Amino acid sequence: MEISNELKGRDFISLHNFTPQEIQLMLDTGIQLKLDLKRGIMPPILGGKTLGMIFQKSSTRTRVAFEVGMYQLGGHALFLSPRDIQIGRGESIKDTALVLARMLDGIMIRTFSHDEVLELAYWADIPVINGLTDLLHPTQVVGDMMTILEHKGRLKDIRLAFVGDGNNVAHSLLFGGAKMGMHVTIASPEGCTVDPAIFEQARADAQVSGAQLKLCTDPLEAVTGADVVYTDVWASMGQEEEAEEKERKFRAYQVNSALMKAARLDAIVLHCLPAKRGKEITDEVIDGPQSVVFDEAENRLHAHKAIMALTM
Ligand code: CP
Ligand code: NVA
Repeated sequence: MEISNELKGRDFISLHNFTPQEIQLMLDTGIQLKLDLKRGIMPPILGGKTLGMIFQKSSTRTRVAFEVGMYQLGGHALFLSPRDIQIGRGESIKDTALVLARMLDGIMIRTFSHDEVLELAYWADIPVINGLTDLLHPTQVVGDMMTILEHKGRLKDIRLAFVGDGNNVAHSLLFGGAKMGMHVTIASPEGCTVDPAIFEQARADAQVSGAQLKLCTDPLEAVTGADVVYTDVWASMGQEEEAEEKERKFRAYQVNSALMKAARLDAIVLHCLPAKRGKEITDEVIDGPQSVVFDEAENRLHAHKAIMALTM
């Protein structure tokens, strides 16, 4: 397949940095690569190229999707654990970036501080892909939007309700929704809502696309009439100490069959995974007919391939 050069050399750090047309290009490329793969076609778009993957936090989906994706694109991926590389012993991000840029064609990083990713991207003159920070999880949302497109046929005017913590996934959903004209309502307990700066930035895009962005505290209000119901863990990676307190705060925010009754009959359920079953989502819902969480997980592979094929 023909890969557009439009995004060649670009970092993929936040969906906020891309135009709706550029995001659409990622989605179309992901869908095409998925179709190809199902037909047994694996175009070696990144033949001879290497991606370094720095993981300062755990991962199943992101790691496997990037590693398998790189293989399927004809390239090679290197897993760089903080236990093994010198960052873990205090080598600076700047020096790491300058060295890796001499040997690799792209870097994927999953870490705590978003600023670390910005710093890495500043010094590395090769594309840097944000594989999740405390602030954002943009590769997730490209896969999510692909999944919504597959099941709903469009993003424009889709009503997505996110029930839970105003976390990295919620932030990226706001950015993605705002660009693509998808209405996003986030229901979180008092004090656990999204970062106001992110909300304001997303609002500027929403004014252009017509997306309605809302924050509330009532899960029922958010889910009523929704096409997509989305949830995520209450305590993200790095918040282990707050987990118990959050469980108390979020008890009324479980996505269960009773709450699902308020959504549209044909609503789909998304969860970025890993899930804490019985906490933010019940077995009945995650294993039920409305759940497409494993399509969503699979789409990480196709979405990541698209991001790499377009930028690297
Ligand atoms: N959803 C997601 O990013 O999963 P992993 O943490 O397993 O990569
Ligand atoms: N919000 C979750 C997402 C995991 C993929 C976390 O940061 O742990």
